[in-house]
Amino acid sequence: MKKQAAFVLKGNLLYCKDADQIISAPNSYLVCEEGKVAGVFDTLPDHYTGIPVTDYGDKLIIPGLVDLHLHAPQYSFRGLGMDLELLDWLNINTFPEESKYADLDYARKAYQMFADAMAAGATTRACVFATIHVPGTMLLMELLDKTGIHAMVGKVNMDRNSPDILRETSAQSLADTEQWLAACEGRYENITPILTPRFIPSCTDELMKGLASLQKKTGLPMQSHLSENLSEIAWVKELCPYSSSYGDAYDQLGMFGGDCPTVMAHCVHLTEEEIELAKKRGVFIAHCAQSNTNLASGVAPMRTYLDHKMNVGLGTDVAGGFSPSIFRAMSDAVQASKLRWRLLDNSLKPLTMPEAFYLATKGGGAFFGKVGSFEEGYEFDAVVIDDSSLVHPQELTPQERLERVIYLSDERNVSEKYIGGVHISK
Ligand code: GUN
Ligand code: FE
Repeated sequence: MKKQAAFVLKGNLLYCKDADQIISAPNSYLVCEEGKVAGVFDTLPDHYTGIPVTDYGDKLIIPGLVDLHLHAPQYSFRGLGMDLELLDWLNINTFPEESKYADLDYARKAYQMFADAMAAGATTRACVFATIHVPGTMLLMELLDKTGIHAMVGKVNMDRNSPDILRETSAQSLADTEQWLAACEGRYENITPILTPRFIPSCTDELMKGLASLQKKTGLPMQSHLSENLSEIAWVKELCPYSSSYGDAYDQLGMFGGDCPTVMAHCVHLTEEEIELAKKRGVFIAHCAQSNTNLASGVAPMRTYLDHKMNVGLGTDVAGGFSPSIFRAMSDAVQASKLRWRLLDNSLKPLTMPEAFYLATKGGGAFFGKVGSFEEGYEFDAVVIDDSSLVHPQELTPQERLERVIYLSDERNVSEKYIGGVHISK
């Protein structure tokens, strides 16, 4: 995979500048220079004459999709064992499976399947949990790196409330994390490390504080879970009696955004105080509607988060979510918001499809910098969609065709991917 200095894609371009609308540029030119978007044009300006143009005809071209939260080792049990709530689901399904990744043969087999799925789909950027195991985590990073996808991958930290085979001491967890970070340095082209304390119930205060000082030293981003399930929230109150809320517990432990980019999955049941704090600290929220339905966690108030202009994007949360498709995450987010509106709070209007598309592109993309749009200066991440198998007797606009691709969520419609200006071979 090599980067061309400048090239052009031609097709039906669709992207967001804000959450209100999808911009449609039919039959237009998308120019890439040095890995960045140089512009969208209906006729190619003269000064671009001579640079290579790939004409994708009537196909759709959208920004790459961003998955702000998923678990690579859980891909193996997607679609299985969903009739449980979070804490039982972790103990019965998740921890036994994750403990298998101590075995590198198993990890190689399972992570290759995961990497293949990521390569085939529309996701171009992702925040990924691995397991506590350093060799397995580095294997995952190596396999994902080969796909060309840009991902932040985290060795998970856990030093309490988990089975012996999946529990570290806090000293070991910190030492392993430092060793892992040192070993990652300069090793991957597209994959970078992210600090990954699993969630407060799995991490003692001592471990969290150690990770916070490591973060201060390194400036690394951090990913975790926040306020997913009511029993989990009650448990955090017991574990951190000094805190006024789950978010405040992270904050008091020094791991709630501020100087370092932070993404928290779920945020289903945040209090007003937590919302204010998350906003002040610039914390990103990864909305995982399918997982929240499967584990009966609830529905996050995304309208509130959008109204507050918080940093928000979408996550599949594989395997709380069974589907690794961000198309599916968009339609699930819209559907869940409609049920929330009708059944729980009719003051919060449901999400619209343009809003869901914004969350999946520019909203989540902001965690990676200027990512997720075709505005000038954005990273050149583009997905070409061949929806010709989705037949229709009537005329449809490109935006209507995109809406159908999203609702039908079949990643086999993904034809080509470009990430940071590099054409990824699928
Ligand atoms: N909270 C802590 N660990 C997990 C996990 O693996 N999945 C989900 N959905 N929530 C969690
Ligand atoms: Fe998760």
